[in-house]
Amino acid sequence: MGFDGSGKIWMNGELVDWNDATLHVGAHVVHYGTSVFEGIRMYHRESTDGKSVVFRLKDHIERLYNSAKIYRMTPDEAPLRERKIKDRRLTYSVDEMIQACIDTLQANGDKDAYIRPVVYRGYASLGVDPRPCPVDLTVMTWRWGKYLGPEALEQGVDVCVSNWNRFAPNTLPALAKTGANYMNSQLIKMDALENGYVEGIALSTNGFVSEGSGENLFVVFHGKGKGGKDQLITTPLGSSVLPGITRHTILTLAAEMGLEIVEQIIPREMLYIADEVFFTGTASEVTPIRSIDQIKVGEGKRGPVAKMMQEAYFDVIDGRKPDPANWLTFVDFD
Ligand SMILES: Cc1ncc(COP(=O)(O)O)c(C=O)c1O
Repeated sequence: MGFDGSGKIWMNGELVDWNDATLHVGAHVVHYGTSVFEGIRMYHRESTDGKSVVFRLKDHIERLYNSAKIYRMTPDEAPLRERKIKDRRLTYSVDEMIQACIDTLQANGDKDAYIRPVVYRGYASLGVDPRPCPVDLTVMTWRWGKYLGPEALEQGVDVCVSNWNRFAPNTLPALAKTGANYMNSQLIKMDALENGYVEGIALSTNGFVSEGSGENLFVVFHGKGKGGKDQLITTPLGSSVLPGITRHTILTLAAEMGLEIVEQIIPREMLYIADEVFFTGTASEVTPIRSIDQIKVGEGKRGPVAKMMQEAYFDVIDGRKPDPANWLTFVDFD
């Protein structure tokens, strides 16, 4: 189901035919990029029990709500002052959005799918002030393969440091996952592809490592932690990064596995001398980086820590490990 035009899309409470899920060209989002969204995966556990599980659905929808809150789209429960403007808000709760995702998955029937909820300002007026425009919601689902190519997880990928920086603090909020932020991601991605790399790493405006166009980043030093532990370093949230759900997953699993975790500012040159560097993201999962700017990272192939983190990640998804934090939502297809 999906881009061949078959299947359904959820729009403001209704499942409509794929090709009928349209919006007006005068919608605020078309002109000003007024959208917040999520990217979520459902996995079909073919290798274990054949069930379909959505990974961290609630956490994604909560982040969607946080993004919406930053842009004054969530319900205004207790107005602090008399509002004189027409101020329209989101009318669905987190639980209703979770259900909308499940309903769309079930309507489309793909057992392995990517889920894309989008909250956006619709059609009413085209002043810069978005508040008079309705807050509309849609959920698409479709089948999707490996994001950085089928071999990426095993072989690793060749990437560059981008010519483009991530946006500065207090310009576009990096903690919000907004459509507009992806104009920056597009520049980073195109720059990388045009120069023969599969992905670009952006620096922050003060020249430190931020993240990939669609991934968070981890650096590993073997045996350099306390007591000779492997050290896993990632950028703090203040480095203009998205608070990745996969980033959080890897930090949680690595802590359980006893690795030393450090959240610190990463100077660019640390990328070249690390033993391993890998990306994390819903789309890219845990993708090892084998070279950066044509400099070999470590041994120039997937390292042992990246492999261990991939295994731990898929052990949770495939049900080989317990799921104490309820990261998995089971979806039935009858
Ligand atoms: C810019 C950016 N950073 C990081 C991530 C990773 O986030 P997550 O692990 O929640 O998918 C993404 C993916 O959505 C992204 O687009």
